[in-house]
Amino acid sequence: MNAREVAGAAARRLEAAGLEDARFEAEVLVREAAGISRAAYFAGAVLEGEARRRLEAWLERRERREPLAYITGWREFYGRRFAIGQGVLIPRPETELLVEVALRELSATPGSAVVEVGTGSGAIAVSIAAEAPGTPVTATDISREALRFAALNAAAHAPWVHFVRGDLAAPVRRADVVLANLPYIPSPEIEALEPEVSRWEPRVALDGGPDGLALIRALVADCAGRLRPRLLALEVGFGQAEAVATLGQATGAQATCIPDLAGIDRVVCLRWE
Ligand SMILES: C[S@@+](CC[C@H](N)C(=O)[O-])C[C@H]1O[C@@H](n2cnc3c(N)ncnc32)[C@H](O)[C@@H]1O
Repeated sequence: MNAREVAGAAARRLEAAGLEDARFEAEVLVREAAGISRAAYFAGAVLEGEARRRLEAWLERRERREPLAYITGWREFYGRRFAIGQGVLIPRPETELLVEVALRELSATPGSAVVEVGTGSGAIAVSIAAEAPGTPVTATDISREALRFAALNAAAHAPWVHFVRGDLAAPVRRADVVLANLPYIPSPEIEALEPEVSRWEPRVALDGGPDGLALIRALVADCAGRLRPRLLALEVGFGQAEAVATLGQATGAQATCIPDLAGIDRVVCLRWE
């Protein structure tokens, strides 16, 4: 059978497993399993032997609702390929907003010291370092597993990023710009998320405590009291922007919200004089 015929059969299995984008995912899995380009896929490349066995194992994993990026081992973020796997959050497209905020800030004040808190795969910190070479970029995470992926991704795209393991920004002594996409899902809501998230992504990357804001609250307090960056930019969940802006304003910061492409206030920027 050629790759497209195999993908047709694979799509029917994924549909039966309840996946919305079964056709697209089947094509990705077939192309990745066979190591072929889109052009070869449409030109009728034949799928056999080892590629067929690999695809079968991957389909079984996807039928168990393991995320596609854990199976293929990568996800694209800000135009680059990031290594991803179990133990690290899969970077989301809306998180690219934080990179844009940082790059705008850096074009106004080049050389600012940038710190990313809770770096996960390193997608934000590595993208900034690669887009604005010469910027001192430090990134923290509490998870050893996440930092293992972050180091791989830095090695591929921006080896000068400095990683340090620790609680929030505690290991950092100086920052002009702090960025963070911290866990912000309220603990009681995690079980109700789609299985790809609730069963597979690390709880430490999701769980923001009873109201979702426990870690954000702690980082705002640390920035306002000790670290005093010029700017703290935080990704927030649906409906959280106002509460986070209010938290910042209570410490004397000016707060602005930036919407994502869906019109949801996604990033809260806090600026101290
Ligand atoms: C929502 S994920 C974001 C990952 C990555 N920055 C991204 O946007 O794809 C949150 C990250 O914060 C880390 N984290 C959770 N609690 C932390 C803490 N107390 N200190 C530092 N990092 C923490 C998690 O391990 C996870 O990698």
